[in-house]
Amino acid sequence: MSEFTPRYLADYQVSAFTISTIDLTFELDDTATKVTSVMSVKRQGSGEEPLVLDGEHLTLLSVKIDQCLLSASDYYLSATGLEIPVRADEFQLTIVTEINPQDNTALEGLFKSGDAFCTQCEAEGFRRITYYLDRPDVMAVFTSKVIADKIKYPYLLSNGNKIASGELDNGKHFVQWHDPFPKPCYLFALVAGDFDLLQDSYLTSENREVALEIFVDKGNLAKAEHAMASLKNAMAWDEETFSLAYDLDIYMIVAVDFFNMGAMENKGLNVFNSKYVLADTESATDVDYYNIEAVIAHEYFHNWTGNRVTCRDWFQLSLKEGLTVFRDQQFSGDMNSKTVSRIQNVRVLRSQQFAEDAGPMAHPIRPEKVMEMNNFYTLTVYEKGSEVIRMIHTLLGAEGFAKGMALYFERFDGMAVTCDDFVNAMADASKVDLTQFKRWYSQSGTPHLKVSESFDPEANLYHLTISQHNQAGELSSPQSCLHIPVKMELIDADSGIGQQQLLELTAPEQTWTFEHYQAKPVVALLEDFSAPVKVDFEQTDLALEVLMLAASDGFCRWDAGQKLLSRYLHKLVLEPGYALPASLITIFSKILQKDSDPAFTAEQLTLPAFGEVVDQIHQVDPLALVNALKTLKGFLAKGLQEPLSACYHNCAEKTALSHQQAIGNRALKNICLSYLAVLPGADTLVAAQLSSAANMTDTLAALNASAYNNLPAFDSQMSAFESKWHDTPLVVDKWFTINASLNSDDIFERLAALLKHPLFSIKNPNRARALIGAFVSANPQYFHCQSGRGYQFLAEQIKRLNEINPQVASRLITPLIQYKEYDLSRQQLMLEQLKVLRALPQLSKDLLEKLDAALN
Ligand code: TRP
Ligand code: ZN
Repeated sequence: MSEFTPRYLADYQVSAFTISTIDLTFELDDTATKVTSVMSVKRQGSGEEPLVLDGEHLTLLSVKIDQCLLSASDYYLSATGLEIPVRADEFQLTIVTEINPQDNTALEGLFKSGDAFCTQCEAEGFRRITYYLDRPDVMAVFTSKVIADKIKYPYLLSNGNKIASGELDNGKHFVQWHDPFPKPCYLFALVAGDFDLLQDSYLTSENREVALEIFVDKGNLAKAEHAMASLKNAMAWDEETFSLAYDLDIYMIVAVDFFNMGAMENKGLNVFNSKYVLADTESATDVDYYNIEAVIAHEYFHNWTGNRVTCRDWFQLSLKEGLTVFRDQQFSGDMNSKTVSRIQNVRVLRSQQFAEDAGPMAHPIRPEKVMEMNNFYTLTVYEKGSEVIRMIHTLLGAEGFAKGMALYFERFDGMAVTCDDFVNAMADASKVDLTQFKRWYSQSGTPHLKVSESFDPEANLYHLTISQHNQAGELSSPQSCLHIPVKMELIDADSGIGQQQLLELTAPEQTWTFEHYQAKPVVALLEDFSAPVKVDFEQTDLALEVLMLAASDGFCRWDAGQKLLSRYLHKLVLEPGYALPASLITIFSKILQKDSDPAFTAEQLTLPAFGEVVDQIHQVDPLALVNALKTLKGFLAKGLQEPLSACYHNCAEKTALSHQQAIGNRALKNICLSYLAVLPGADTLVAAQLSSAANMTDTLAALNASAYNNLPAFDSQMSAFESKWHDTPLVVDKWFTINASLNSDDIFERLAALLKHPLFSIKNPNRARALIGAFVSANPQYFHCQSGRGYQFLAEQIKRLNEINPQVASRLITPLIQYKEYDLSRQQLMLEQLKVLRALPQLSKDLLEKLDAALN
């Protein structure tokens, strides 16, 4: 019963006990691993409370307090924990448990990834290893001894520094590790296996020599080079930007194939999904390279924002995640094109986070009620959380923000703290009042800005009025309105000269007046996407075209084009035969001919994603939107055929480019291909690119074009690809993804066959997502088909995953619980599947929480 009760932020209480040290011994075995834990425990309160330890899926072998072995009548054992009515205020507690890593398909706690043992303890997985106070404000010094077969597991790893190792009987050996930094148990890690090891080192600004080690599956050594280079760049960046240097003598990263998420920042021993480590140009795309750099940096940055200063409780998750995402985004912006990086952040926010904020699981970046913590590693906590930090950065300036960070570490190093603690440090260091700003932490929903303008030609005055509204569209009250930084530029229509300014919207409605304008200026609003809001502002096509070419801010140039395209997509959804204006061709041919960064031009030519438009149209018919996207793409392809083709061939012929230039060049070439491939006779062009492609980026672009247009050669192209890559798991994932996104009426027969394919395994999260997740997000035409078969397919797979891996099941259900975005007939079909799932016996807590939220 207690397992299914929600917890509330308001109920936070300090732990009745603390644990200052924990000594762990693991005797590794596939099905019966023995875990011995020796802890120094101390009462914190004055009361007589019993010691209540968390524990799940454990077999308890023994409990000892000091030298006294307890019998079963000395404690209460339940499915969720162990309660000991202890009297002493300070004692040594010894607990021995047995666990089964082999059968652990949930991939939480200790599990097997292929032949290796590894752990995942965040958020509450340590309780699947031993009985413990599994909460982030209980911080202990960990010592861990790992014992295993020497031949099968030559590498035995844990957090901190190696302090002992040696041989044991029966072909076993051991290694003992000590982590001097007290930490919550969610940062504990253990890995045992046989790997190839890439070694390097880094000299910190404090002249500390740090050994850098990346462990990968045998044969993959060369594929770890990019991750290593990224790690060193991240280490240098954090020293330069925030004066933060690494603190241990060794930093290890292990890449595993079975992992629920991207990666995990365990102190000194990061565990990564191999997808975010392994890359070479033949097998990985430019996007893969970009993501590896970002995730490597993200986990590294956690060493300070998350590990040295951690969260008081899980409601504060955005304290470490929002801040660390902000840090990795800034880093990625510095390493790559800043504008293109920013555009990618905004696309994710608009196409996914806005939907989450409008759906049944909407929550503030600091949630107030949680049933299953794993359900709150969300786009809201991470991405919107990062936007909130970015707004603080905007309001304080880079220097004020850096001062705030310095004060934050001065105050809280080694502690478990709250989001309020962070904001207070920022406010105190910069002397900027952030009292009203804090409302961003407790309000859910995407704020809406309504904008109007007027021009007085007599007085040469320009007035800009902005009001703020909540998710439901109601004008915010003075008590609820947010502090919103609005960066903007006024562009003089004649000279094209702009004036930039930061407006601070703090009231429900405000008007700003600008003097000395001879003619009405064009306003570029929300430069660099300075706040995570929706903007309601009816700018004319002409004004948007001015912005596309003349706004100083790259984000605004891009955004104006997206607004123009969305406007016509909307018209096409309402009226499929709508005659699109020739002006669209004119402006986009100007964009194509403009001498911009090719990576940026590629973004300008990219149509808004399905999910972005869904969010803009009330109860949209998804097939009408699929068709609108097809029509607009065809219209642009036809009207721009010549310049697109010229641009394509120009890019294809370019040689002697720098690494960064080559990436931008490929992006531009491949967006041109995606247009040209919808025109008659595309087969030859796609086939030619496929046969000449020297890297995965170009190969995948061609295969995707083949899948989107259901080209006749699709099957033969895919089987050639399969024969070439069947031994490379990350590329096999790509193969499943392209198969799942094929626009073909027999897609459901194909999906059934793919589920039975020898390379498919629903137990591997990457593989499950590559097939099921990709069908759902990359094949809207069939996922949303009128028969409801798409929804039924998803529900059936979620049903299987409910028993195998609840975390993966719970993430895949997202589009179904967001049923209100679609027309009423889709809503009915989705609801039907939600009810089927709700009726399942043995529903996991993860799914139950979401289903109950969706079905009320
Ligand atoms: N802290 C991790 C990160 O953001 C997130 C994470 C990794 C995680 N694995 C997980 C969260 C498993 C929940 C469950 O870098
Ligand atoms: Zn993180």
